[in-house]
Amino acid sequence: MATQYFTATSIDGFIADPEHSLSWLLSRDIDAGGPMSYQRFIESVGALVMGASTYRWLLEHELSAEDTWPYDMPSWVFSHGELPKRSGDLRFAQGPVGPLHQEMVEAAAGRNLWVVGGGDLAGQFADAGLLDEVWVQYAPVALGAGAPLLPRRLELRLMDVARNADFACARYSVVR
Ligand SMILES: NC(=O)c1ccc[n+]([C@@H]2O[C@H](COP(=O)([O-])OP(=O)(O)OC[C@H]3O[C@@H](n4cnc5c(N)ncnc54)[C@H](OP(=O)(O)O)[C@@H]3O)[C@@H](O)[C@H]2O)c1
Repeated sequence: MATQYFTATSIDGFIADPEHSLSWLLSRDIDAGGPMSYQRFIESVGALVMGASTYRWLLEHELSAEDTWPYDMPSWVFSHGELPKRSGDLRFAQGPVGPLHQEMVEAAAGRNLWVVGGGDLAGQFADAGLLDEVWVQYAPVALGAGAPLLPRRLELRLMDVARNADFACARYSVVR
């Protein structure tokens, strides 16, 4: 079981543009599948965790007011504020990520824990020594500014590479 940060990024290291738009990503063939695709990745995920901006983006762009939470696995959202809820196994948290990690791992029931993003949240897991892998899908675009992929110094080891349609995919392990 591993704690994995899986995300798509521009080649200059931004996972959303300065307006939190993902148009640069969603305009591409993100469902092409392939050896390191999201479709393959999600098959091994048992629980997930994300920050408040990512959660808000999902509510605003992917879900209508009546929709239930789209993931059938236990999901955590980190925020200091009050966020709209959806029915489903959705748990809200704040503060250091370390104390909750074991609970997330147990909830994943032998599968992997997906750190959806953003980059700083993934960095908080890395700071606590709890991040095992980083999976990056590089879109062929530069954004110049936006939400950073990983705003930390972090040593990685390249484990695997693949091409999926427009995307160059890389899987790294975190060097401890
Ligand atoms: N390209 C992709 O595949 C991809 C993947 C994921 C996300 N995204 C996008 O990237 C952007 C990421 O936004 P972001 O950089 O702002 O990151 P984010 O992690 O989604 O949100 C940051 C917010 O999470 C909360 N937070 C984080 N750590 C916390 C902690 N330990 N305790 C309590 N609250 C905590 C805080 O919210 P409060 O201010 O509420 O306290 C913080 O402002 C979003 O637009 C998202 O849609 C893209």
